[in-house]
This record gives sequence, C-alpha cells and structure tokens, in this order.
Amino acid sequence: MRIHILGAGAGGGFPQWNCNCRNCAGYRAGTLRANARTQSSIAVSAGGDSWVLINVSPDIRAQIAAFPALQPSQTIRGSAIDSILLTDAQLDHTAGLLLLREGESLNVHCTESVHRDLCGGFPVLPILEHYCGVQWNPLLLDQPFQMKEQPRLRFTAIPLESKAPPYSPHRHTPHPGDNIGLAIEDLQSGRSLFYAPGLGDITSPVRNWLDKADCLLVDGTFWHENEMEHAGVGTKTATAMGHLPLSGQGGMIEQLRSCPGQKILIHINNTNPILDEDSPERAQLAEEGIDVAVDGMEILL
Ligand code: MLT
Ligand code: MN
Ligand code: ZN
Repeated sequence: MRIHILGAGAGGGFPQWNCNCRNCAGYRAGTLRANARTQSSIAVSAGGDSWVLINVSPDIRAQIAAFPALQPSQTIRGSAIDSILLTDAQLDHTAGLLLLREGESLNVHCTESVHRDLCGGFPVLPILEHYCGVQWNPLLLDQPFQMKEQPRLRFTAIPLESKAPPYSPHRHTPHPGDNIGLAIEDLQSGRSLFYAPGLGDITSPVRNWLDKADCLLVDGTFWHENEMEHAGVGTKTATAMGHLPLSGQGGMIEQLRSCPGQKILIHINNTNPILDEDSPERAQLAEEGIDVAVDGMEILL
C-alpha cells in the first residue's frame, strides 16, 4: 500500500495564521529551520487510480493541488478519491468536506458518534445534501472491513481515548466511537499501518497495534502537557485536548520505545519544539528512532 501524507500539522497548521509563537514567528522570519505543514490528512491506496482520503482538512484544496495522483484527467469532472474515512468529527478533520461539494455524492465512512456530530453540532452532512449529497457508511468498532474500491486493504476502526469536538454533546462524556485509530492491512504485501492522529491514552487494543503494525503514524501534537501555556497561546493542556504528550513519564516517546515497526509522528501542533529541525527535542527523537511526518511524505508498505 502507498500512504501519502497530505497534511502533517495539527488544527491551525504551521505556521498558524494568527500565531507569533517562537516557531511561527521564526518560520516567517526565516530564522527557524522547519517545514510548513498543512492540516491533518492522509491518502491511502493499494494500486490504480483509487485513493481513500482519511480525514478532510480545511486545506484539502491545496493538498489535492500538491498531489496530482488524486486528480487523474479521465473524465470532465471526477477525481481519484473514491472514499472518505473520518477518524473523528473535529474541524481540522472534517471542515474540508464543505470544499468537496461540487461533484458526485461523497462516499463517507465514519462511526455513528461522528455522524451524529456532523449532523448536529457541525451540520456539514445536512448542508452537503443541498449540493453533492453524502452516502454514509457506518463504521463499526473492532470489526475489520473492506471497501470494494480497495480490495487489497482491510481496515479496522480501533476505539481511542481522545476528545470529541467542543460542539459535541460527548465533549465531557466520552463515548466509544468519538475518536478512532485505523489499522490498515495490505492483504497482498502482508504489511500494516496503524494511524492515530489524536491519541490520549494507550489502552490495550492500542498497545496491541503499536506492538504489531509495520508502521505507526501516531499523535505527535504536543511535546509537553502544558505546552500551550508555556508558549503563551492558551491554557488548555494536552490531556484536556485528548492528546498524549511526547515527553515525560508514560508519554508517547516512552510508549513507542519497545515497538518494532517504523515510528512516525503526525498531527504536529505549531507550538511543538520538534518542528525546529535544530532543536534538542528533535535530536532526542532521532536518537529514539522516531521520525516526524512532513507534507508530501510517502510510505510504502
Ligand atoms: C485537536 O486535535 O485537538 C483539535 O483538532 C483542535 C482544534 O480544533 O484545532
Ligand atoms: Mn486536531
Ligand atoms: Zn505558533
């Protein structure tokens, strides 16, 4: 399977439009060695002109433009995106659905909880009924499934401890299915990916996939639990936002240490010191054998 990173940034992207933190200001001034990153999304394919778009960020238009494989010119209107899979209902993963309104009905896979938020707090799906329409495919937890467009791939939605969006009635009362990780297995190559851009805690099903998958593409949002406060940009903690910080006891670095697969962090917030290629935090990741995703990165499994 081929995995293309469309956007490796967290909500807001990097640099963020209104942010003057060390990273965002340093990037704009040209004094920081770092790559800009658009908002969280990947595309996956196991061959042919058929791609699954996983999460649809507000940057989707630029992301499609930057990746011509998503736009083969076979018909007067059309694209290689045959299906869409959503890991949660957060804006950085769903607001881009509004930008895909011009075509045929969208083939969307998401859990019932996510579907409810996208019909309620952020009613993008009912809005799209006035344009292209949406074909909803309910995603069931822990039940492997295949899509007819990608017969080589087997997907499994793993429930995650993270956070539903602020407009969800589940924000403070988490329900299974508000946030999922995806295990994607290529039945031909026998290799697998575990993708979890928002991961607040390492539960036992998550631990299983961390120990098993050939490639881990996991939450690298924050270095530190109080990073937003330290950067002077807010008071929300990583935990309150549903993200396990990288550093500290029980943090993501420690959790990944024993994993045999390739380790790549994604959904990097603009305040995270690992964006600075010359930072000690980035050097520490290199020592741990952990890579940091960047837009345009490809993984072949
Ligand atoms: C998150 O990942 O915690 C959210 O996407 C935050 C946001 O809405 O920007
Ligand atoms: Mn996010
Ligand atoms: Zn910033």
